Amino acid sequence: MKDATSDIRERILSRLSDEPGHYFSGEAISHEMGMTRAAVWKHMHFLKQSGWPLDCVTRKGYRIPFDRVLPFSAAGIRIAMGKDGTGRFIGNHFKMKDDGTDENAMNGKSIIWKITVLGQTDSTNSRLKELAATGAPEGTALFAEEQLGGRGRLGRSWSSQRGMGIWMSILLRPDMAPGQVQSITLAVSVAVVETLRAVILEIFGGADPSRAECLAGSIGIKWPNDILWGGKKICGILTELAAEPEKLSHVVIGIGINVFQTEDDFPPELRSIAASLGMMLSAGMVSGIRETEYLPDRNRVAGLLLRNLSDVIGEYRRQGMPDILKRWRSASVTLGRDIRVMDPVNPWFAHAVDVCEDGRLLVERPDGTKTYLLSGEISIR
Ligand code: BTN
Repeated sequence: MKDATSDIRERILSRLSDEPGHYFSGEAISHEMGMTRAAVWKHMHFLKQSGWPLDCVTRKGYRIPFDRVLPFSAAGIRIAMGKDGTGRFIGNHFKMKDDGTDENAMNGKSIIWKITVLGQTDSTNSRLKELAATGAPEGTALFAEEQLGGRGRLGRSWSSQRGMGIWMSILLRPDMAPGQVQSITLAVSVAVVETLRAVILEIFGGADPSRAECLAGSIGIKWPNDILWGGKKICGILTELAAEPEKLSHVVIGIGINVFQTEDDFPPELRSIAASLGMMLSAGMVSGIRETEYLPDRNRVAGLLLRNLSDVIGEYRRQGMPDILKRWRSASVTLGRDIRVMDPVNPWFAHAVDVCEDGRLLVERPDGTKTYLLSGEISIR
């Protein structure tokens, strides 16, 4: 999917991202990448024109400024994911056999991620669905810097400005009935919330552990799979499937994480309901941390997320839902709360009692009758 020119551009970006703020001379890059200085200049010119935050200064060279957003790079994501690039937790949840092979890989249960980063696309979900239809393997992961037609649940659009967030989709080919797919979505929301919490602890944990714990604990899952902070959405998940009546062909799971937006960056209609990881981190900023240090690197967040996704999906395949459900329940901001079910014709009130393995929400009406919600939207009162 990637040609030699975009590959070399990705390598250049990845190299500059290794040391944000540091100038690399044209000569050093030409030497390292095995090309002429004129070729380096052309690539830099192209990257700058395409919107990358590059400083190009005569007699100094090229750099990505320290205080600017680092571009996505497949290399950066792979580095954050772990050395072997498979997203497997070696030695932790996945046991190694004595001969060094991985049990789950042998059972075909571990996800080997194949990462592609796009500059701009309409929607990573739409693009990945096309790739899935032409035989792309399980574990294909598409990231985009910008989506022109980002899609959300219930036919809504998803604001996906360039460089502002993590807009990604993953392809799974699970052996399950279509009715079970919502449980995978629950597992994905557990992986997302645990990743975001880990990022907060990583950034703030050293400076003020108890405050970092408190901030991390303030992220939760709203049924079915919105990730909220302070009642505002920082991440949404869109699951789309292709299926025969009895069997899934594939599932595309799209994840949108707002990372760098300030309130003003969101369209006016979203300002009261959307937030970003950056807004959350700046609200919880602890002394002793410089502002530039708390800006998360999206490659790092994405790498950790792929690793956690591989972990949680592997766990689902080996052990089913019991433990994942426990983690979902403990991160839930819905259970035990009074809710409004946003039926477009006739909204009604209920109390959220529990979540089932297949993702349905058990609710109790004011008259004491219990019923299950399959999908749709709720608001928490
Ligand atoms: C929601 O409505 O909460 C789901 C939002 C999902 C957005 C992500 S961004 C990456 C992927 N591509 C899309 O077009 N949508 C999903």
